[in-house]
Amino acid sequence: MRLVNVNYVKEGSVLARPIKNYLGQILLGEDVVLSNAYITRLKELGYDMIFIKDDRFKDVELKFPITDKTKESAFQALKSVTSAIEADVDAEVDVESVKKAVLNIINDLLHSMDILSNLSDIMGYDKYTYYHSINTTVIALVMGIKKGLEQDSLLELGMGVLMHDIGKTRISLDLLNKKESLNQEDFEEIKKHTIYGYEVIRKNHDFSLHSAHVSLQHHEKWDGGGYPRGLKGKDIHEFGRIAAVADVYEALTSKRPYRNAMEPYLAYEYVVAQAGWQFDPEVVDAFIKSIAVYPTGIGVELSNGMRGNVIKQNPDFPNRPVVRAIAKGDEEFNDYIDFDLAKHHSLMINKVVYM
Ligand SMILES: [Fe+2]
Repeated sequence: MRLVNVNYVKEGSVLARPIKNYLGQILLGEDVVLSNAYITRLKELGYDMIFIKDDRFKDVELKFPITDKTKESAFQALKSVTSAIEADVDAEVDVESVKKAVLNIINDLLHSMDILSNLSDIMGYDKYTYYHSINTTVIALVMGIKKGLEQDSLLELGMGVLMHDIGKTRISLDLLNKKESLNQEDFEEIKKHTIYGYEVIRKNHDFSLHSAHVSLQHHEKWDGGGYPRGLKGKDIHEFGRIAAVADVYEALTSKRPYRNAMEPYLAYEYVVAQAGWQFDPEVVDAFIKSIAVYPTGIGVELSNGMRGNVIKQNPDFPNRPVVRAIAKGDEEFNDYIDFDLAKHHSLMINKVVYM
């Protein structure tokens, strides 16, 4: 399978992974043959990149960090907590289900992962808020593991990150979905989701104080330019500093009503460039060890002029994966050539290409 931009998909291509909507429901199943009507509809719905079957890429395996079952348990936990808070802001929520979901995530990550490459079946689409929170939790926990956090700390971190935006339940939907740019008053209101979230979590004593701090501090910035308190450096709790990186990276690589998703390698560059400014440099170090710059499946052009797709990650070299070249210039090869960039030191990825 390889990742193809919807604008370049040919009629008759076969889906290698199901296409899901923002709720995670399947719209088109695996093995569906794409007609022109389907392709047009996918473009209208705003899908960017989809996985299609390609005989030259039969052996390529996608490794997702967590199982569908784990994702579902996290989704249900978030849904139940959110509905309870929406109905009554002082509600006692089902902390046990949150804890179980986070334990499932940690367990999956410890068993499956060396480097985070593909978070979900499709990339760049408009996700339901719950999936944003789940992906952010996965990214934060992978960084936590790379930083060597103990199991208890991972659990507190994960529970906090999964709930980090729960305070948004107290902000009006009109404001959250506003497409025009926000005025000062709007922004001041949105900032409060951090404090609201902290308050909600503190009311439920089975959450730790550290977990509550994730909600309170995930928008603080290393250089003191964040909110709500403008804390600086290590005055921000470590979990807040980790959550900040995960939250921004996940948000940038997701589609929003008012903008397209950023390419993963550009979002990666952004995070790395913000080390010491917006983000804690030590957390950015952990991020660099955690995230593949070029997700498996994505199309790239090499410095020798050949084009192909990433087929495998090199965990020790997150920016030098294995690339399977299938074309050069206008010429498409009948066969393919694999380049392991961890071994071909003179070859580089020039850019991401759509093909
Ligand atoms: Fe937030």
